[in-house]
Amino acid sequence: MKAILLAGGKGTRLRPITHTSAKQLVPVANKPVLFFGIEAIRDAGIHDIGIVVGDTADEIRAAVGDGSAFGVRVQYIRQSAPLGLAHAVRESRDYLGDSPFVMYLGDNLILHGIRALVNEFRASQADAQILLAAVPNPSSFGVAELDENGRVLRLEEKPAQPRSDLALVGVYMFDRAIWDAVAAIKPSGRGELEITDAIQWLVDAGRDVRSHLISGWWKDTGKLEDMLEANRMVLDTFATDVRGAVENSTITFKVVIEEGARIVNSTIRGPAIIGRDTVIDSSFIGPFTAVSHDTRIVRCEIEHSIILENSVLTDVPGRICDSLVGKNVVVGPSDHKPRAYRFMLGDASEVRIF
Ligand code: G1P
Repeated sequence: MKAILLAGGKGTRLRPITHTSAKQLVPVANKPVLFFGIEAIRDAGIHDIGIVVGDTADEIRAAVGDGSAFGVRVQYIRQSAPLGLAHAVRESRDYLGDSPFVMYLGDNLILHGIRALVNEFRASQADAQILLAAVPNPSSFGVAELDENGRVLRLEEKPAQPRSDLALVGVYMFDRAIWDAVAAIKPSGRGELEITDAIQWLVDAGRDVRSHLISGWWKDTGKLEDMLEANRMVLDTFATDVRGAVENSTITFKVVIEEGARIVNSTIRGPAIIGRDTVIDSSFIGPFTAVSHDTRIVRCEIEHSIILENSVLTDVPGRICDSLVGKNVVVGPSDHKPRAYRFMLGDASEVRIF
């Protein structure tokens, strides 16, 4: 079996971070979301992964390389235009050949991996297997309607009036029957070739499409609140591991301090992670916070947030909560008159002042 891992897309819901970065490389608990996908595929026993890339190809390539660091073989498939998930499948034809495959959306995170699901598909000889999860906001997803025996009757992409609360999770398994389906469908109202329509085509053609309701935690990390939730879930699985230096500080509950980090005169209350070579000085880092590498935080209080690398935060008077701070960001006091806020913010930045 092979896999394709989709890492294109514009990440509009994570702007401004995604003006300069691929959404799949934004870290959760200091690890890019995409890496969780690579590891989940590998742990399911699949070692050939085609990563489908778009405009952010160079950045994805620089981060993942040939896959050897993960113990897999990675090839890159350049999608000629962002024309939908089924279009990405079409353009992966040469790479996949007639092999059955997993399609994994690179911004999806499934806490307990996909091994059992891949084994189930392998044993079933089905033409396709979709994963479903009950969600409170089905209109934001592909939605499945099942009959009383759990067979797939109908799939709709982001319906205004969803017929169930069962969202399509961004991990799909297909055999070669999918090639007829992606060739047959037409673009949707939003001008994309929808994988949802391709699977509906399989259902209508009487193919064997199985569904599996997942019970564990799953997230599509497209938005800030979803990133923060994913960060919470992953941090909560950690055990305390202190590799950096801790001086005159209090560290409590599930805290990871990476190599070369220095914690001075501070309190770190987990679950939290402090990246390598980061300095935390005279600060409070509260639960569910991930601070990336080479960052400096002095006289600040931060809780339930993600702070990316090479940023410097000093003397912020109030507590920073529910925030995502990008790379190379500076937040700190002004050293000249008038006493005023001074901003240089990227397009679509958001600043909330209490
Ligand atoms: C895509 C699919 C949708 C699925 C979702 C899961 O939506 O089109 O059916 O439920 O992924 O993450 P997108 O996130 O690209 O809008």
